[in-house]
This record gives sequence, C-alpha cells and structure tokens, in this order.
Amino acid sequence: MMKDVLSVLDMKDDLEDLVAESVRFKRDRYSAVEGMHNKVLGMIFEKPSTRTRTSLETAMVQMGGHAIYLNPNDMQLGRGETVEDTGKVLSRLVDVISYRAFSHEKMVELARSSSVPVINALDDLEHPLQIVADFATILEKKGRTNNLKFSYVGDGNNMCNSLILASAILGTDISVARPRGYGPNQNLLDAALKIAKETSSRIEILEDPVKAVEGSDIIYTDVWVSMGEEKERAAREKLFMPYQVNSDLCQHADKNYIFMHCLPAHRGLEVSAEIADGVHSVIFDEAEYRLHSSKAVISSLLSA
Ligand code: CP
Ligand code: NVA
Repeated sequence: MMKDVLSVLDMKDDLEDLVAESVRFKRDRYSAVEGMHNKVLGMIFEKPSTRTRTSLETAMVQMGGHAIYLNPNDMQLGRGETVEDTGKVLSRLVDVISYRAFSHEKMVELARSSSVPVINALDDLEHPLQIVADFATILEKKGRTNNLKFSYVGDGNNMCNSLILASAILGTDISVARPRGYGPNQNLLDAALKIAKETSSRIEILEDPVKAVEGSDIIYTDVWVSMGEEKERAAREKLFMPYQVNSDLCQHADKNYIFMHCLPAHRGLEVSAEIADGVHSVIFDEAEYRLHSSKAVISSLLSA
C-alpha cells in the first residue's frame, strides 16, 4: 500500500484486496480493529458531503478510533494559512488525514507536506474512496469484479476518471458515453489504457449511450453538474438530457444488469425515478459500502 490514496492508481496493487476486505467488514460491522484504538482521522471538507463524511467518521468510531470534522472556513486555512503548513501541523496531531478539495493540485500539496497518510475524499479529478465501495458492491452482487461489461453514461467527471482506472486495473471492460467535449481526463485515460493492455480490459469512449449500454452488466451514472460547476447548470442540463439513464436506455443492457450511482442523485435528470428506485438499482447498498470500504482503506493505510 502506498503512503497516500490520492488516485485509484495509488491502489493499483491493492484494489482487489481492499474490495474483498470491504465485503469482510460488512459481515463484521461492530468489531473494533486491532491497532485502531485512539487513532484519529482529521477530515478537511472544502465541499459538502453526506456519505463521505458520515462513513469516514462512523468507520473510525466503530474501529476504535475517532474522527474530527474540519471545515476550512473554521480553520486558519480559510484565513490564508498555507496547505503546506496545515499538512505539517496536522501530521503532528492526527494519524491520518482525509481531504475533499476543489483542486487535485492542493491535494498533492497536502500529501507532500504531510508525514501521515492523506486520503482523497474527492477532488476535481478523482474519487478513489467511492471506487472501493463501488467494486465491493459489484463483488457482492455479481460474484466477481473482472470480465464484466461496465457502462458509464453522462459527464466524464471525477467519478468517470476513477471508474475507468479501476475497470482497467481489475480487468473489466468499460464503455463511456458522453457528449463530445465532456470526456474523461486525457492523462488518466492514457494511464488506464496502458494498464488495460496488461489486464485485457477494453476501454471505449463513445457518444452514443445505447451503444455503450448494449449488453452491460453494470450501468453507472453521476450528476451532470459536479460541485463547483453550478454556473454551468442550465447549459449542462440541456446538453446532457439525451444521456439520461431511463427504461428506454436500460432495455439494451443484460437482463440482470445492476444500476449504480455514487449519489446524490437527481431523479428526472441523469436518472429517471423508475430506474433509481427500480428492481435493478443497488444505489443504497452501494452507499452502505462507503462505511465498510472506508474501514478497509484506513486500516490498511495505518497498518502499512
Ligand atoms: N458519493 C459521495 O461522495 O457522496 P457525498 O458527497 O455525500 O460524500
Ligand atoms: N461528480 C460529483 C460527485 C459527488 C459525489 C461531484 O464532484 O460533485
């Protein structure tokens, strides 16, 4: 395990184990974890959060440790103290730091200045913690995480980048359908394509959602307007409408497909209510896995 988890790439050699460990943590929810007593997680959130904050904090408490929520507006960080000094100071006070940041550069800066592990709790480029929960859900529902067909329909955002990397690492095919100009990050896509050669995973970036979904075992979508993009809302909602995941689109998937969404969901926009709340949807199991997978990631980082 690397010192930090800033990208799915940092979990390249550990992802399969972390996913399996998450499933084990689900079976053993309330047991304290050896070595976690009195361990403290400092959680910096520059953006709102329901799942990430609650799952990280609950994970620490259940494992025998503690978590502190740090809002930059209530920290000296919000008054001009540097990320670098913040990392150096927090490293003297807590055992591990999670950071939800607007910019990946700041994420890297914090990790560089911190002597304790830093976990990316979402930034503009990636959402690696969500990935462990997503593939644990897939393992539970499908019995495997390789040799599946994954389709991601919508915005080529942080979730999309991380899902492409994880699919490549685990050896699952992924088809992305997005409007032109809203594709995944090119550097991360290149990294995924390189890994995919070794794992025989196939990565396709398409415009046609029907083609992407054809024969899929998993259909995944995320919001069209990510945190920080609110000014683009009207234009994006119009542009992305043909990419809504609804019954018409899902009929092209395998008959046992599962529908996934990292949440929060906007019914009537990226997903119709009948799909989000339908029999194929696993969105709340997926949300629950945020707890179990947080335990897997934190205990692994702290035992390294
Ligand atoms: N999926 C996810 O990260 O949700 P939150 O923004 O509520 O943490
Ligand atoms: N793409 C979304 C994910 C939210 C969990 C965002 O960044 O807002």
